[in-house]
Order: sequence, then C-alpha cells, then structure tokens
Amino acid sequence: MTIKTLDTPSAKPLLDWYDRHHRDLPWRISPGMAARGVQPDPYHVWLSEVMLQQTTVQAVKPYFEKFLQRWPDVTDLAAAETEAVMAAWAGLGYYARARNLKKCAEAVATEHGGVFPDTEEGLKSLPGIGDYTAAAVAAIAFNRPAAVMDGNVERVISRLYAIDAPLPAAKPLMKEKVAQLTPAARPGDFAQAMMDLGATICTPKRPACSLCPFRDACQALKLSDPELFPVKAAKKEKPVRYGAAFIAVTGEGEILLRRRADSGLLGGMTEVPTSAWTARLDGETSVSAAPFEAAWQACGTVIHVFTHFELRLSIWRAAIAGQVARDDGWWEPVTNLEAQALPTIMKKAIAAAIPLTFKTSKG
Ligand code: ADE
Repeated sequence: MTIKTLDTPSAKPLLDWYDRHHRDLPWRISPGMAARGVQPDPYHVWLSEVMLQQTTVQAVKPYFEKFLQRWPDVTDLAAAETEAVMAAWAGLGYYARARNLKKCAEAVATEHGGVFPDTEEGLKSLPGIGDYTAAAVAAIAFNRPAAVMDGNVERVISRLYAIDAPLPAAKPLMKEKVAQLTPAARPGDFAQAMMDLGATICTPKRPACSLCPFRDACQALKLSDPELFPVKAAKKEKPVRYGAAFIAVTGEGEILLRRRADSGLLGGMTEVPTSAWTARLDGETSVSAAPFEAAWQACGTVIHVFTHFELRLSIWRAAIAGQVARDDGWWEPVTNLEAQALPTIMKKAIAAAIPLTFKTSKG
C-alpha cells in the first residue's frame, strides 16, 4: 500500500479551479485576461475593494452599481457633494470609509490627474488606502505581485500550512506564506481566487474539503481538523452602551433629524436626536434626555452591534401638532427618509417608532 504524501503547495491548482469556478462579479474581468495585458478599471477595483471591507459581496453589489451609475469616473466622485456620497453609502456601515472614499477620489483627481498610482507604495500614499486596499488594487488592477491579506485569505493559508500561532500575532507569518505562494504571472487572479475559495469552499464551518483545489496539499486536512484554524486569541467581551432615541412626528408627517459631528463614530451621518450613549442606564439615557417636552411613548429597544461595543437604544415616539423650532436639526418628511444619510441603527430606531418606514432593517 502506498501512503499519499502531501503535495507542496502551489498556485497552479488554485488558478485552475478559479478559471472554472470564479464568481462573476460586476467589478471583475475574466480570469487570465490581466496576465494578457487587459486591465480592469482601477476605479472599479478600488471602489469595490473599499466597499468589500467588513461587508459581504451580496450587500456590496447594489451599492457598487448605484455608485457607478451616479459617479461613472473617479473625477465625478471627486466633484460630488460629500453629503450625497454619505447618503448613497447609508446602510453599508463603517462610515469613515465613505468620507475617506471621497477624500481619496479628490486626491486622485487633483494630485494624480485622475489616474490611480499603479504601485502599492503609490496607492498607500492616498487618503484612506491602507495595506489591504493598496495590495488588492495593485494586484487586481495592475497585476503587481502583492500579498493580499483578508479574513478569507488568513483562513485558507492558516489551514494550508496548519499555522497554529494565534491571530493577530500570526499575521506576519501568514503574509510571508501568501507572498511565497503568489505567482508572478497572475497575482490578481491568485488574490481573488484565495478570496473566492475562502468564501465558498474553505468556509469557517464545515468546509467542503473534497472540492478544494488544495486538498492534496492542505496540512490541516491531513494532520488535524481544518475547522480548528485559524487559531484566534481569546476575545474580550463587548461592552454594552445604553441610550435613548427620540422620534417626534408632526401632524404633517415630518420627523426631527440632525447631523452628527464630522469626526468619530458615524461621523457626518444623519440621526434622530438621542441621549448620550453611556455605560449605565440612568436619567441621562432615558426619556428625561428628550430634546423637548412632549407626550413621549415608549416603543421598545433596538440593539446594534458596532465593532467596539453593543448599543441598546430605547425608542421614544411623540405625536406633536407642528414643528418645534430647533437650531440643531431640521424637520424631514417621513416620505423622504430613504434619501437621507441615515445609518442602519437610525433606520432601525425610526422603524421601531413608525413601522413600515424602511423596506429592511438589517443589522
Ligand atoms: N472580498 C474583498 N475583495 C474581494 C474580491 N476582489 N473578490 C471577492 N471577494 C472579495
């Protein structure tokens, strides 16, 4: 009987798999074309990569189409009103990305003649472009041999080499392995193939190892259990913050909105008036923090999980006869809320007070 030894990992089986099983995505060109000198539009690649950070492909698709329709070129985006970009981004989360997107488009338009730099270093000099985006755009748009690291790639590489050092400390080792494996001829396809493999085959739970192009090279599959990788350092529990949100509705069907400060969480986005968000539930976070006196009625609690804390907002609604004068906000017809830069937490809060205001109230 012969005992099958592990193959040495190589990009070839992965690229063959990608040629047959790649996902057709609106920002992609066909596999193999980049190596033949066909370049995907760097604006499309950059826009999609910024949107895809912390966000699923399914969620990104309609936003990507909407942005391209509205701002077909990076110079169009550079010339757009920041408010309009924030409103178009509303619902995608991580709003600093939208502010940086606009700043980056301006830098490309004014400092680079509307043309994206074509190296990792050049890309990193732009606002809002960090290691991940620079590597992804350099590899995918410019066919540069950059090691592109995201959560999917970390999972695939940690299993392929059975890397048992915990994340995040193991990141440099993982990047070294990805760099070694990245082929000079098709680095962009390789990066996208690793991401597709992680999203569809090498999944966190119950990976489909029998379909995997790395099945004969995967050390985790041979020696252990792929689901045990990547190893993660123990997580700290998320702190909880509490607050109250106030939805005042006039007889004309308008609600009071205001704009958040430019910096910080949800910076520059639109909100209904809320109390401070604090660690304890007390007078500061209850109906006593309402923006004015009215017959406020409790409409339950909505919960939203941010990166660094969980927010529990108690929702209050009041029907009032007419607008109360405010210098820190404006009255918006409920029928026009879809056009506002309302983040998901605020859509959830409004929907709790006025059912059926939004088609979705996703997390
Ligand atoms: N996730 C982030 N970037 C991606 C890409 N280019 N293809 C597929 N998934 C991705």
